[in-house]
Amino acid sequence: MNLAQTVMERCDVLASCTEEAGAITRPFASDSMRRAQEHVRHWMEQAGMTVTRDNVGNLRGRYAGTGDGVLLLGSHLDSVRDAGRYDGPLGVMVAIAAVQALQDAGRRLAFAVEVLAFADEEGLRFGSTYLGSRAIAGRLGDEDLRRTDADGLTMAEAIRAFGGEPERISDDRWDGPRPLGYVEVHIEQGPVLEDLGLAAGVVSAIAGQSRYEITFTGEAGHAGTVPMELRRDALVAASEFVTGVDAQARIRREIVATVGRLSVRPGAANVIPGEVTLSLDVRSPDDRKRELACADLLVLADQLAPRIAVHVTPVSERAAVACSPRVTALLQDAIGQNAVALVSGAGHDGVYMSEITDVGMLFVRCKGGVSHNPAESVTVEDVGVAIDVLGRFLELL
Ligand code: GLV
Ligand code: MN
Ligand code: MN
Repeated sequence: MNLAQTVMERCDVLASCTEEAGAITRPFASDSMRRAQEHVRHWMEQAGMTVTRDNVGNLRGRYAGTGDGVLLLGSHLDSVRDAGRYDGPLGVMVAIAAVQALQDAGRRLAFAVEVLAFADEEGLRFGSTYLGSRAIAGRLGDEDLRRTDADGLTMAEAIRAFGGEPERISDDRWDGPRPLGYVEVHIEQGPVLEDLGLAAGVVSAIAGQSRYEITFTGEAGHAGTVPMELRRDALVAASEFVTGVDAQARIRREIVATVGRLSVRPGAANVIPGEVTLSLDVRSPDDRKRELACADLLVLADQLAPRIAVHVTPVSERAAVACSPRVTALLQDAIGQNAVALVSGAGHDGVYMSEITDVGMLFVRCKGGVSHNPAESVTVEDVGVAIDVLGRFLELL
């Protein structure tokens, strides 16, 4: 079987590591992640890598070189809820395949190749972002470790249960010499490559993003007895906010804004909603535009309803990150003619990896641009192209 077919089959195997039967949901430090990592560890070892797991739970496979340098490859193994099978795992599987090709040819490069399978990028369990790469960048702090999941378990407890030592999370930080670069292969998650009829493209920049948690507090009451004019319905205010966010983002250039999670309390058919908590995610390749949009949206939340209290908690904020011209040029050379450059609206671990090295990304065409959806789809031919491009990149480097 060729390597591209192996990658497809391995993505299918990982898809079976899930918390929800019939869907792919693989959160940080979960049983399904443990099972996924057992497979990935085995595949890394088969490709000649020495495998370790750090405290936050990233798997790190190292294929030794003849010299001192190290190139980092990777992507994430966690998923959103009811995910597709390629967002994250594809990049890890293509990286392992590229190393497998070296091993099959009995080759060592002048530098080591380290494949990072990040423990968390999507932030499903703790409403966070980039936990795996943040640990490597030395940017995970006590504040993060105190975050709680839906069951009230802290991140520190989750890490401990998974086998890591939360008090030693700072040991995960990259402490070797500056790596030669970090390269991530990822499905495009947009329709551009498909439109252009291209299997792969490079990424020029990753959009910046801001996330907030916003709570609207009104007053719970009896759905049958409180007259309409006396109500302080938190969900009515929150709903106006949701449509306001959408309307505001539509009239701005280069801004996307999403309310993706909303919880209503007490959450019963016969009770007026007293409290609503929702997430707000705002992104743009232009940091100034993003900051302006956020400021206006927070004003909107505040001014919606005079009798509803609004509390805003900033969750995360990251500026847009430009990919390294040096790494990107090598990736373009590896693609050859028709190497287009795209901006990524999705977040990637390269955002934090850019703090320790030069970052480059290779996008792979995906069907209809669909992602964060079980319908995510790539072809084995395009995966083959990605493996070849990565292999040529390693030679060029
Ligand atoms: C990750 O997929 C993100 O962009 O939120
Ligand atoms: Mn994703
Ligand atoms: Mn991803």
